[in-house]
Amino acid sequence: MRLDYSRMQQDQLDGDHGLRPEVIDRLTRRYSEVQAEVATRREGGEYGFYALADQTETVAQIETFAEGLGQAHEDVIVLGIGGSALGTKALLSALRGPGWNEWDDEAREYYPRLHVLDNIDPSIVHNLLQRVDPRRALVNVISKSGNTAETLAQYLVVRDWLEDALGEAAVRHLVFTTDPESGALREIATRESIATLDVPPSVGGRFSVLSPVGLLPLALVGIDIGALLSGAAQAISQAAGAELKHNPAALFAGLMWAADTTAGSRIQVLMPYSDRLREFGAWYCQLWAESLGKRLDRQSAVVHAGPTPLAAVGATDQHSLVQLLMEGPYDKVVSFMTVDDPGCDVPIPDSPDLPEAAAYLPGHTLGGLLDAEYQATARALAEAGRMNLTLNLPDLAPATVGELVMFFQLAVGYAGVWYGVDPFDQPGVELGKRLTFAAMGRPGYDTAPPAREPASMES
Ligand code: PA5
Repeated sequence: MRLDYSRMQQDQLDGDHGLRPEVIDRLTRRYSEVQAEVATRREGGEYGFYALADQTETVAQIETFAEGLGQAHEDVIVLGIGGSALGTKALLSALRGPGWNEWDDEAREYYPRLHVLDNIDPSIVHNLLQRVDPRRALVNVISKSGNTAETLAQYLVVRDWLEDALGEAAVRHLVFTTDPESGALREIATRESIATLDVPPSVGGRFSVLSPVGLLPLALVGIDIGALLSGAAQAISQAAGAELKHNPAALFAGLMWAADTTAGSRIQVLMPYSDRLREFGAWYCQLWAESLGKRLDRQSAVVHAGPTPLAAVGATDQHSLVQLLMEGPYDKVVSFMTVDDPGCDVPIPDSPDLPEAAAYLPGHTLGGLLDAEYQATARALAEAGRMNLTLNLPDLAPATVGELVMFFQLAVGYAGVWYGVDPFDQPGVELGKRLTFAAMGRPGYDTAPPAREPASMES
């Protein structure tokens, strides 16, 4: 993986915009302090996700489990939300390609389809349960807390569906991935002897895709999860760099922080030129937003910090967002992602009597066109004074994807230090949860009257 950040710098843009040399110097000088704070906080028990690169026993356990179960089922259904789902969706798409579930059994090498239900919209739940045969389905219920309303509601619906078809055997089609001791899922699993995997307590939800949360579903579809973790280990060893320019995760985080706080680029766009990385954008948005969007800093001062992440994809968004990126406010920075060897390419064939406007295309490939469009967009943005950088990946093999995931997790950990906020909590979602419980009649949660009259209009 290579990080090219030349187009973040003022002298590479239009001369007016971008990071001034003294800003980059300041980042470089502050690096040792940032690195020391991360080390201290790691020793104090924060940053538990670093340990995910080293899970030899867990990998062996999951692989054995997956070998026994995977090819015996046609469909695996993951129930979960937020950090318990987005990473698995992103990695399924990156590693197996966006259309995995549409391939026939032979093309999938008899590995199951993998469905991730990360919402409670009745239409998607109903639709899936209509299509899948419960007798050939394995359901992985994932919740670190074991108490999340959406996941528990899905579980109750899906359990009912399994029992209708299988009676008492339904429990053999369930696996829970949850806290080793606490929560409703753990209680149910213990009472009913349901198979379980542990989510390490020191790893937060949005940092958990490389824990059993993502490893089990990915192993079930035949992903080499050992290679995934070896890539993660590689990202961690790079983060030990003694200089900022040798630590890509800290550098990326520092550049994004400086773009936000010194150049007004509060909107941080992730734009892979790869459909296999389209879902990755949603995972990045959650990681960035939930970790850095904070009212208080580490000293409890009110800061309302946090850049706004935005997911785009090339070339699709060249016909949508790029107009805004080129000519709208100077409040955005774009992180492109490119892949040298995406695993396949498609030649553009010739055709008789092509009009001149199409005649330049034959002889190229779709991959070549995609790359030319990335090059052109990155350069055009720079010429318009718009900061951008590029993360270049050699391929989308499991080790590379593992490195990429860990790179962003490390980066958000560093960004927490650059911003001075705690990237591992999410106090802002609590009030909404309490009001939902009250509305659903959960004992102990009162329905408070609305603060003011709602404004509404019917047509
Ligand atoms: O990152 C987080 O902590 C959250 O997004 C959680 O992943 C999400 O709320 C789901 O929580 P749980 O896994 O406890 O069901």
